[in-house]
Amino acid sequence: MNNLTLKNNTLYIGGVSTLDLAYTYGTPLYVMDEDLIRENMRAFKKSFDNYYSGNGLVCYASKAFCCLAVCRIAKEEGIGLDVVSAGELYTAVKADFDTSKILFHGNNKTLSELEYALEVGVGRIAVDNLSELEKLNAIAKNKNMIANIIFRIKPGIDAHTHDFVKTGQIDSKFGFALETGEAFEAVKRALEYENIKLLGLHCHIGSQIMDTEPFTHAAEVMFSLIEKIKIELDYEIDDLNLGGGFGIKYLETDDFIQYDDYIRDCSKIIAKITAEKGLKTPFILIEPGRSIVGPAGITLYTVGAVKNIPNIRKYVSIDGGMTDNPRYALYQSKYEILCANKASEPKTDIIALAGKCCESGDLIGMDLSLQKVAENDIIAVLATGAYNYSMSSNYNRIPKPPVVFVKDGKSRVVVKRETFEDIIRNDN
Ligand code: LLP
Repeated sequence: MNNLTLKNNTLYIGGVSTLDLAYTYGTPLYVMDEDLIRENMRAFKKSFDNYYSGNGLVCYASKAFCCLAVCRIAKEEGIGLDVVSAGELYTAVKADFDTSKILFHGNNKTLSELEYALEVGVGRIAVDNLSELEKLNAIAKNKNMIANIIFRIKPGIDAHTHDFVKTGQIDSKFGFALETGEAFEAVKRALEYENIKLLGLHCHIGSQIMDTEPFTHAAEVMFSLIEKIKIELDYEIDDLNLGGGFGIKYLETDDFIQYDDYIRDCSKIIAKITAEKGLKTPFILIEPGRSIVGPAGITLYTVGAVKNIPNIRKYVSIDGGMTDNPRYALYQSKYEILCANKASEPKTDIIALAGKCCESGDLIGMDLSLQKVAENDIIAVLATGAYNYSMSSNYNRIPKPPVVFVKDGKSRVVVKRETFEDIIRNDN
């Protein structure tokens, strides 16, 4: 990763020695390079300026990594935010985020979540189903307000990614199906409701997608609905949200597509279709999460027991595991790892990196190449900035690690380490 450097056999991130970080803050430790997060946000914004003349909004999908500090950074960088629960929304509000630039997702928002979204003036609510539409209209009526919505549509596209993170196909819990006519019926219904303003349409086809084609295909499919709405209902859609899902490089061997290429290819298709069909160019939104924070993060651990089972496998156990990174257990995700204090040495071992939970599946990975390590060495797992902290748990009552941001050779804690007091805080 380009934010990582090696000096004196030691791994550095954002100009800070990972060994100093491990010593100062303890392990396990999430470390994130603030400049890289900002750079990634700026890059998406710049692509939007280039290809859509700024007629759009990049909304950081905060589910990838949500805390006050990252919301403040998104605010400073002038981008929007995608939230998917009242908890993420609350975090954004507490970070003083401009709520008109917030988009609220979720396939089963509760009444209180919908009320909260209206109260704080969320710019767009992505409505997932008819019962939500009805509830939202009633709440808005009650409050004498208009709810600005977009509809989440399943465009029926196979995004060639892990089954658990695919969302665009008809067999999905998210959104309205296009091919059954369900989406069109929902649009008709929304136009009848007095307290609903239909701004646009949304699709999100999946995550960790390594190809621009599913995105351009999704845009094409969405325009078939936009056109139908214009012709049959005489209604012009203002917003088109193409979701997130841009893949990152987890492994040296992973292919990588510049994010600018996705935006460029989609903008071309959109320009072509709007010209051909005589449609106005919508305000374009996207919701990148992983691609903004994923590459910026690493996790540091201390090696404990090393168990070599002759002719079978060597287990290297660390002081964290599935509680701070459940992605291997859930999706068999692959990571690059290295020994932070032997960083320039060749990787001569093949090991299984095991967590400390009472669970055989608690692994960060199997068959990983690593330098020869011993107890008390520091291990860095790379590209853990997305869906690690945000998916962490307290299984086995293990406190969550802190998150430290590094920038210009300095570090600061943005999320404190949980204590045992935190663990029992809500127990009666
Ligand atoms: N927009 C919507 C509506 C989404 O559902 C998601 C992700 C995103 C945007 C952001 O996608 P991204 O750019 O981060 O790929 N926990 C899984 C990923 C789940 C993604 C859920 N939705 C993982 O660790 O790989």
